[in-house]
Amino acid sequence: MSNLIEIKNLKKIYNVSDNNKLLLFENLNFNIPRNSITSIIGPSGCGKSTLLNILGLLDFSFEGDYFFDGISIKQINDNQINKIRNQKIGFVHQFFHLIPELTVMENVILPALVDKDNITKINNDANDLLKTFEIYDKKNMKPNKLSGGEQQRVAIARSLINKPNFILADEMTGNLDEKTSDEIINFFLKFVTNHNISLMYVTHNQIYADMAKTKYELKNKNLFLK
Ligand SMILES: Nc1ncnc2c1ncn2[C@@H]1O[C@H](COP(=O)(O)OP(=O)(O)OP(=O)(O)O)[C@@H](O)[C@H]1O
Ligand SMILES: [Mg+2]
Repeated sequence: MSNLIEIKNLKKIYNVSDNNKLLLFENLNFNIPRNSITSIIGPSGCGKSTLLNILGLLDFSFEGDYFFDGISIKQINDNQINKIRNQKIGFVHQFFHLIPELTVMENVILPALVDKDNITKINNDANDLLKTFEIYDKKNMKPNKLSGGEQQRVAIARSLINKPNFILADEMTGNLDEKTSDEIINFFLKFVTNHNISLMYVTHNQIYADMAKTKYELKNKNLFLK
């Protein structure tokens, strides 16, 4: 299969209360090719984070089909799902989600410890990423001592530690000033292109959305190519 991801007839409803249902999207059909960069733009509350959570295997309460690398995720067990989520998908959250008690270095290596791979190799990989994202000198500090841009770079380094082939980024520059945002988005897009990683990112910034090869808008409960 040439596509990394295929989504067919995806429908998402939140049961807000017994008689209050929120339909976010339906009849969603799209593919994410390998080594591709895709952006999603859309008004606040339209369901962008919800869609990313589904694609990131964090939310399974949806209708429709989701194929990852040709595998229907509805047909596989929790172990296999955890493996795909941990080893093949990297997630950069809207609000960083760093663990405050851990140092920068510990935050970055955490996803790699799940499979107890060679710890020397994990440390070397983490050091390389910290250098790449220019936060190596802060590796022993706690996240609350870092600026927003630095925390975001730690979150990006963490999303890359397991060498995923798919990264989901939810407003990775939403909380940063313009100059820092420009630097981070440019650097990240170059990085994923050079490492053959597929990236899907959500942004409220039209200029950043236009930097992707494939551009979607989420509105009226569906995705529209722009
Ligand atoms: N667990 C939940 N239960 C019920 N409703 C929810 C739940 N999570 C989110 N929602 C609702 O779903 C809608 C979409 O939320 P979502 O976070 O996906 O929006 P978004 O497009 O990412 O918005 P933003 O641009 O502000 O981040 C919102 O109206 C939100 O209130
Ligand atoms: Mg959101």
